[in-house]
Amino acid sequence: MLQDFSTPTRRETSTVVLETERLSLRKPTLADVKAIARLANDRRIAENTRRLPHPYRQDDAVRFIKDMAKARAETVFLIEEHHTPIGMVGIDWRQPDSPELGYWLGVEYWGRGFGTEAARAVIDYAFEEFDIEHMISGARVVNPASRNILEKCGFQWTGVELHRFDALGSSSPVDCFRLTRGVWASLKSWGHANRRDA
Ligand SMILES: CC(C)(COP(=O)(O)OP(=O)(O)OC[C@H]1O[C@@H](n2cnc3c(N)ncnc32)[C@H](O)[C@@H]1OP(=O)(O)O)[C@@H](O)C(=O)NCCC(=O)NCCS
Repeated sequence: MLQDFSTPTRRETSTVVLETERLSLRKPTLADVKAIARLANDRRIAENTRRLPHPYRQDDAVRFIKDMAKARAETVFLIEEHHTPIGMVGIDWRQPDSPELGYWLGVEYWGRGFGTEAARAVIDYAFEEFDIEHMISGARVVNPASRNILEKCGFQWTGVELHRFDALGSSSPVDCFRLTRGVWASLKSWGHANRRDA
């Protein structure tokens, strides 16, 4: 379900709220700084995301929220379960024709399908609201959970690239993926056939 509080424009931090079966996705604010810093301050998260620093302090969360409002290069959602923040998911518009999906969850929330559920909500939002032909994303080759999320969402592997990870202080090989509008539309419209035994 999509509650549209304003007309979203590309590169704008979204004021839209996305609802899924178990989750609510909304724009993070300065009131969320403490929760974001507590969740994000884990090396297992930082080492798999390109720009998250480690350790991650409240100041980092404040800077992130303020930069997000100023730069407007990212659409970011705070993921909540029963009004409790559990992670973040977003679209990076720095390459406007190749918006990039990214996400992370607090470690205590891993393994319950929340990553897939949040990613799907933002993918639907991106293709429904913006005139884009594809999205891209990537997962370190040592990150099968993220790779599984992308594949379950219909992303197709395009190759391996070296990307810098701030928390590692070095570059690391990343499996790169692309989801085209055509594949997304096909997955959305692929209904279930009913089977009847004669
Ligand atoms: C990646 C991340 C968001 C996954 O969240 P999650 O809610 O646990 O993911 P889901 O439960 O939706 O799905 C993960 C899938 O990977 C599988 N998986 C998890 N760990 C795995 C492992 N070590 N090896 C193989 N598969 C694994 C799960 O079984 C699941 O697949 P399934 O639904 O077919 O069973 C979470 O681990 C995270 O925040 N990691 C750190 C940040 C990060 O990697 N971000 C992505 C880079 S953009």
